[in-house]
Amino acid sequence: MRFLLFSSLLCLTTLRVVQAQDVPKRQTSFKPGEVWLDTKGEVINAHGGGLLFDKGTYYWFGEKRGKSASEGVNVYSSKDLYNWKMEGLALAKSTDTTSEIATHGLMERPKVIYNPRTKQYVMWFHLELPGQGYKAARAGVAVSKNVTGPYTYVKSFRPNGHMSRDMTLFVDDDGSAYEIYSARENYDLRIVKLTDDYLSATSQDTLLFSDHREAPAVFKKDGKYFLITSGCTGWAPNRASLHVADSLFGPWQPLGDPMKGPMADKTFDGQSTYIQPVPGKKNAFIFIADRWNPKDLKDSRYLWLPISFDANQPVVQWTDAWKLDVWGK
Ligand code: DGJ
Repeated sequence: MRFLLFSSLLCLTTLRVVQAQDVPKRQTSFKPGEVWLDTKGEVINAHGGGLLFDKGTYYWFGEKRGKSASEGVNVYSSKDLYNWKMEGLALAKSTDTTSEIATHGLMERPKVIYNPRTKQYVMWFHLELPGQGYKAARAGVAVSKNVTGPYTYVKSFRPNGHMSRDMTLFVDDDGSAYEIYSARENYDLRIVKLTDDYLSATSQDTLLFSDHREAPAVFKKDGKYFLITSGCTGWAPNRASLHVADSLFGPWQPLGDPMKGPMADKTFDGQSTYIQPVPGKKNAFIFIADRWNPKDLKDSRYLWLPISFDANQPVVQWTDAWKLDVWGK
C-alpha cells in the first residue's frame, strides 16, 4: 500500500515536471544568441530569414535547415514579435527529382512581400540547383494567395543574366519592389527593380558597389536608405558595413561598421539578414542576423538587436536582453 502511494506520488510529480517543460514560458523580451523556442517549445528553425507585417500579424519566413540540408522555407507567426507560432512549411522541396527545387539543392534567404494588385504573396529566395553546390546562383520565385502558404514554385532566373546569391527584397513607399543581390561571384552588389506583379526582374538593374559583400539588409528612414552588408567568408562571421544613399540606385556612401559592443568587429559572431521596421513606433528598426553553426545549421542562433541613431547615423549596440519599450511604451 505504502509502495503504491509512493509510486503514484512519484508519477504525479514526474507528470507535473513534464507538463511544466511542455508549456513554454511566454517571452517578454529578446535574448540575442540564446535558444529561441516557438509557442510549442520547439527550437525555431527559420534561418537567413525575413519578416512580413500583414494585417496586424508578423510572419517570419526562414530557411528550414537540417544538419546541413536545406529543407524548404518555414513560416512562423506572432502578434508581439516575442512569441512565435509555427505555421508550417511555407515552401516545400519537390519530390520530383527533375524539379529545380528538388532535394539536394539550396533555398536560402527567403523574403516575402505582398502584391496588392495581384493579391498574391510573393516569395523570392536564393536558389541553388540540386547537386551543383553554389554554381547556379539564381533567384527563385514562389507565390501564394495565403500568407502562410503553401507557396507554389514559379520559376528561377539570373536577373538580366547576373548571378544572384545572397539577396533581400525591399518595397518602397510607392509600392515599387526591388531585389538587392550579390552578383559576379559576390564581388558585385546590385539592385534590380521588380515588375509590377513582383514576379520578374525589369531591366532597371544597377551595380551598387564592388566591395565583395553579401547578406544585404536595407531600411529607409527620413527619406534616406541604409544598407548593412557582410563580407564573404562562408559561414564564418566578419565585419559588417553600413552604406547610405538618397536613392536605392545610389550612389551609396560607406559609413563604416555600425556594430558596437563585444565582438562588434565580427557582427557579434553573426551575419545580417533583414531589418524590420516596428509599426506604430517612430524610428524603430530591428537588425536581424544569424549566428551560424556550420556543424549543425539548424542549431544556428538568432541575433535581433534594436537600431539606434547617433547624429542620424544607425548604430547597432549589443545587449544581452531588450524589449520593444526601448522605443517608448
Ligand atoms: C554566406 C551566405 O550569406 C549564406 O547565406 C550562405 O550562403 C553561406 N555563405 C554558405 O557558405
